[in-house]
Amino acid sequence: MRKIFILSLTFLFVLTLSPFTQADEIKIGACIYRFNDAFMLRFRNAMSAESEKAGAKIEIADGQDDQTTQNDQIDAFIADGVNVLIVNPVDRMASQPIIDKAKAANIPVVFINREPTAEMLNSYEKAYYIGAKAEESGTQSGELIAEYFKAHPEADKNHDGKLQFILLKGQNGHQDMILRSKYSVEAIKAAGIEPVEIASAIANWDKLQAMNIMNAFAMAIGPENIEAVIANNDEMALGAVEALKNSDYNKGDKDFYIPVVGVDANASALEAMDKGEMLGTVLNDADNQGIAAVKLAVALASGGDVNAIGYDITDSKYIWIPYQKVTRGENK
Ligand code: BGC
Ligand code: CA
Repeated sequence: MRKIFILSLTFLFVLTLSPFTQADEIKIGACIYRFNDAFMLRFRNAMSAESEKAGAKIEIADGQDDQTTQNDQIDAFIADGVNVLIVNPVDRMASQPIIDKAKAANIPVVFINREPTAEMLNSYEKAYYIGAKAEESGTQSGELIAEYFKAHPEADKNHDGKLQFILLKGQNGHQDMILRSKYSVEAIKAAGIEPVEIASAIANWDKLQAMNIMNAFAMAIGPENIEAVIANNDEMALGAVEALKNSDYNKGDKDFYIPVVGVDANASALEAMDKGEMLGTVLNDADNQGIAAVKLAVALASGGDVNAIGYDITDSKYIWIPYQKVTRGENK
């Protein structure tokens, strides 16, 4: 009897003093800016699958594109005693209060997809960011267009040697909107082609908004005067493709074709590429970003070694997942 008592006491002692938490006790509270986003859906699926693999519990909240809603969800997760937070902020510039709350509760926080400033991340040693270098995707999508333009002299519809393009941008303030817009155009210049922006608009990563905008542009400008469409993501590229099809472009006839590029490599974009409706895209590796986020979260919550999770951590803060160009060979 006495022996059992001592044994259970020892057991209790070990449990309370151990700095390590078993994976099956780890609760991850994850906040996504908006569930209704094709890329973030891939991200969520990757995180759920990896959590199951690690034996951790993950709860994912839909911020519905509203920072106030998301802040409430973060409060609720903290009150609920989650061991670690994964946050895809609605407004990346509003990340500081989230970091402050996590710090006050001594809960590690891993940001994903929407990058807080270095200053914000540096204000808490347990704050991290996992994403992909936005300028890299911009450069690669610009290169796809430049390669096509060079391989297809007929793509220069008005024979002026310059590239008349339309730019469809994601949400204002998002690093991927700012840097993809800039670097795609830079890459065209670097390839020795003069880019001429004939129109641009913000379509908030959204297919329907992009389709409506592109319908209006095609009407106003005439599809025969558009030499390329560069979209900050695949959903907007697909919206543009729909609009061009309304004008009887991009339906398979090479004389009525405008190269359209996006970013993400979502399944629907790959399908459109297979059908010859869309030129190319850049793989935004949601699987690896989601896996890295959960692995890092589990390591942080369990007192494990963050440098042993299989991903390089830069400046003790960042995990960068590389982008990759995807085409169907039309560039040759
Ligand atoms: C993706 C977009 C997505 C956005 C959400 C970007 O990295 O390319 O498709 O809508 O992230 O924040
Ligand atoms: Ca031209």
